[in-house]
Amino acid sequence: MLSPQWLDELRARVTLSSVIQRTVKLQRAGHEWKACCPFHNEKSPSFTVNDQKGFYHCFGCGAHGDVIRWMTDQQGLPFMDAVKELAAQAGMEVPAPDPRAAKRAEQRATLIDVTDAAQGWFMRNLAAAEGATARAYLATRGFSDAVVREFGFGFAPGERQALKGALSQFPEELLVEAGMRITVEGKEPYDRFRDRLMLPIHDARGRVIAFGGRILSKDTDAPKYLNSPDTPLFDKGRTLYNLHRAGPASRKTGRLVVVEGYMDVIALANAGIPDAVAPLGTALTEQQIELLWRLVEVPVLCFDGDAAGQRAAMRAITRALPMLRPAHSLGIVRLPAGLDPDDLLKQQGPAAMEALLGSPASLLETLWAFERDAQPLRTPEDKAGLKQRLVDHVETIQHPDIRSLYKRELMDRFSAFAFPPRERAEWKPRGTGAGANRAEASPDGGQALRKVIKASGQDQLANAVFAGLARFPDLALAHADALARFAEAEPRHAAAIDALLDVAEGLDSPGGLPISEEQGSGAPPDNTRFVFLKDTTDPATARAVLTEAIALLVERPVLEAALEAATARFATDPEGALAEQQRLRERKLAFQRRLGQMASRGAADAARSDS
Ligand code: UTP
Ligand code: MN
Repeated sequence: MLSPQWLDELRARVTLSSVIQRTVKLQRAGHEWKACCPFHNEKSPSFTVNDQKGFYHCFGCGAHGDVIRWMTDQQGLPFMDAVKELAAQAGMEVPAPDPRAAKRAEQRATLIDVTDAAQGWFMRNLAAAEGATARAYLATRGFSDAVVREFGFGFAPGERQALKGALSQFPEELLVEAGMRITVEGKEPYDRFRDRLMLPIHDARGRVIAFGGRILSKDTDAPKYLNSPDTPLFDKGRTLYNLHRAGPASRKTGRLVVVEGYMDVIALANAGIPDAVAPLGTALTEQQIELLWRLVEVPVLCFDGDAAGQRAAMRAITRALPMLRPAHSLGIVRLPAGLDPDDLLKQQGPAAMEALLGSPASLLETLWAFERDAQPLRTPEDKAGLKQRLVDHVETIQHPDIRSLYKRELMDRFSAFAFPPRERAEWKPRGTGAGANRAEASPDGGQALRKVIKASGQDQLANAVFAGLARFPDLALAHADALARFAEAEPRHAAAIDALLDVAEGLDSPGGLPISEEQGSGAPPDNTRFVFLKDTTDPATARAVLTEAIALLVERPVLEAALEAATARFATDPEGALAEQQRLRERKLAFQRRLGQMASRGAADAARSDS
């Protein structure tokens, strides 16, 4: 067997025009050569030779080929002779034929003949009288006729020698080798699949290489599904059920879904979701993940929401972690507990399934949630245990950037979870379900506002910013996103921010909020030390300083969380943590300096020179 690489090398080493020139007179024409076509009769030249591309082409008769093709078609040499002659010219040695590789290829072909013949026989059985029970069972699954045909359902009858009789053109040895028959010492070999609904398993090129068989009778303790064993054709760990159909479909949808069972794949196809594959009764292997990644960057894995499903998700995740590379990951969909995709489609319909597939959790999120909930976190030892488990996962990641990014994110989550800020209260994002927390907006927004601002209590910065925003409500709207993020980080201020934004949105024209007429009444008196709250400050300056104060306020929780995370990192990464902490301390000092300036005479200048 000559490898494609070897043949490419050969083509690259011989110059096509020099070979053709031996029998045909070529003329230069730009980058190419021209001649009257040697394959048909003509007066003006329409035959071209392109050495860069390594092809000749005739615009008259369509003759086309590379140098090997020239030798076989024009010189009439058999393929191997053409190759040998060209190799001699190029100074290359033709590799000696590998008899084992040749035998393997030959054997593969004959085994495929066996599985192909078996598939035809299984399908005929399903259509015949003996397939009645299987057809009745199939009807209960609710697949359309088109899907039943497309997926090639068949039936294996109950007798132990039926397949052997039907495929008598093949020697026993081949039937065994193809996985269709089982041999046991001292007994007559027998058919592997008996009294089962049969499903063909294809390779990526769509050839039948193996089978899965589903049991039909409930009163037996035989396994529900039986698969072909690994054979020279079929390597379970490198095969994905339905890949030959889902692959092309995924190029259109940009998505690839992985489910646990064959029937789930078929139920999805039946519901108009064609881009699904399944492993074959085993956890996803590295090779299968690579296959998926060749088609899409983030395949979506579906798992049952129960504990077993979550463990299966974790098996896939721990398999993928060492392999992660930029842009490649896994998306995880958790189905309602106890439902597989087939059940979900039956109970809730395709739209519900599409919705779940449309918003998978990230690999990191799933990993974090699994470990977080794996054990209670009552004691420092529990917390250290969680941290260790996270670090252990991170350390399996081979890609250095991804490893350090995972480490940072998981440690951030760990710190926020293990050491929650004390004031954390329930905070409902703006606009969703008004809680008790939330100040009523109109009709008396002013009064509500005064109340919440008063409630900001000891937090002077927050307090001053809120009072400032009451004077310049358009700035509240301009910074609404940042303020909402702040509210999430410091939920005790959520009500004030909600009220501010509500009232600001309700104002027809820019101008002070109702509260600003009695400016200062809602805030502790010493807040007036902030430049933007002083009546004597000109509005442009007041607005500039207030804008900076908003930025400081929003930065505060971020800075605190980062410092906390850096502290938590000490145990695992003292050097990194120290450097990070130093950097953050400097940021915090700068923060405090600016805060000080804001309350002093210099604030106006500082704001001007910053912007
Ligand atoms: P499930 O038990 O979830 O089957 O096994 P399912 O797909 O929901 O099948 P139905 O709906 O009951 O017909 C999931 C997969 O695990 C493998 C098969 O690949 C199956 O598709 N399996 C399961 C086996 O290999 N052997 C078994 O005995 C059971
Ligand atoms: Mn099922």
